[in-house]
Amino acid sequence: LSDVPPRFGVYVHWPYCAKICPYCDFNVYRARGRSADPLLNAIAADVAGHRARLGPRKVDSVFLGGGTPSLLSGAEIAGLLDAIDRAFGLGEGVEITLEANPEDAGRLADHVAAGVNRLSLGVQALEDAALRALGRWHDAAAAIAAVEAAAHTGARVSVDLIYARAGQTLTQWQAELARVVGLPVEHLSLYQLTIEDGTAFARAAARGALVPPTTALAADLFESTVAACAAAGFSAYEVSNFARSARAESRHNRIYWESQDWIGVGPGAHGRATFVGAGRCATEAARLPDAYIALVEGTGIGWPEALPLAPREAAEEALMMGLRLVDGVNAAPIEALLGAPLPIAPLVEAGLMAPDARGWVRITPAGRLLTDKIGATLLA
Ligand SMILES: C[S@@+](CC[C@H](N)C(=O)[O-])C[C@H]1O[C@@H](n2cnc3c(N)ncnc32)[C@H](O)[C@@H]1O
Ligand code: SF4
Repeated sequence: LSDVPPRFGVYVHWPYCAKICPYCDFNVYRARGRSADPLLNAIAADVAGHRARLGPRKVDSVFLGGGTPSLLSGAEIAGLLDAIDRAFGLGEGVEITLEANPEDAGRLADHVAAGVNRLSLGVQALEDAALRALGRWHDAAAAIAAVEAAAHTGARVSVDLIYARAGQTLTQWQAELARVVGLPVEHLSLYQLTIEDGTAFARAAARGALVPPTTALAADLFESTVAACAAAGFSAYEVSNFARSARAESRHNRIYWESQDWIGVGPGAHGRATFVGAGRCATEAARLPDAYIALVEGTGIGWPEALPLAPREAAEEALMMGLRLVDGVNAAPIEALLGAPLPIAPLVEAGLMAPDARGWVRITPAGRLLTDKIGATLLA
């Protein structure tokens, strides 16, 4: 992990949304007709600032996330991609993902014409009542129409759904799964609802107005998710991510899970990259859009400092991220950073982990739901 990792990604955070969903705690703000230009210019300058500090790297993946970057026009997306290309150069076969909300379906062809080749659609549910409860503007029919429009562009298509919602039964979720695996998509991100502090859902849960499923039901929902995906030909390559083939996996997310290098530009974006003379550092851009724009205008970069990662921090990140992958993680570099072997044997004996001949370790299906706890046990 001490050498410069071979793969390099660019994460762009676009923080504006048409409205804020009651479950979401990402760094998001109402768009309210604000001009996109000052932030687009700041992001382009921030990318150039990173190039000056990193040296030459070819970009393997760009992820335009948010927030709602599908609010941007094709020309605005083209401008962002051009800034990244001019600074670093887009590598051959680069993956360029755009997170898109279904109500922006009419712009997807423009986004693809601008260079996007993977669309990640925030469908969230395929039941109208559930979509209303999630505070979404689209209904199930509009979501399906958006998936079809996305497939029609020729881009790779992924769909996000949220399950373990208040009141959701196993039967209802199985029906949604049956519908989603029949859509023209190559990838699914299926997330259990997290009640995040500070959100409207957290306040409703505190009042007793929103009751999340029991742990037992949540476990059943997870098991049935993996089973339904497997039966439909989507393999679980990560805790929440399912792909029809290895080529359909998210290359960008693999950069995170495999502790490769990426820069984070845009308000509140996180990065982990190898800086000239400083080694692998963590960066966190200023969170408020106006503060971010002012910082980039004043200093040429979107964060106040790049913090070198201590060996233990680097080991913890590599382990916690790598354990999410079904293939697992290479133990040797992590043990080198920790200066001690990982205490794997008791977890193997308990059937929660499995070693392989290459010296990699992975979590077994029986341990999947305990991924974070297993990581914590290994690092205790
Ligand atoms: C950054 S969000 C943005 C995507 C896009 N703006 C949208 O809403 O469709 C990425 C994904 O995170 C998931 N997500 C957001 N908040 C969540 C929560 N509290 N629990 C589980 N998943 C969540 C959703 O599935 C969402 O599509
Ligand atoms: S879920 Fe998507 S649209 Fe809703 S507030 Fe979060 S980022 Fe914005």
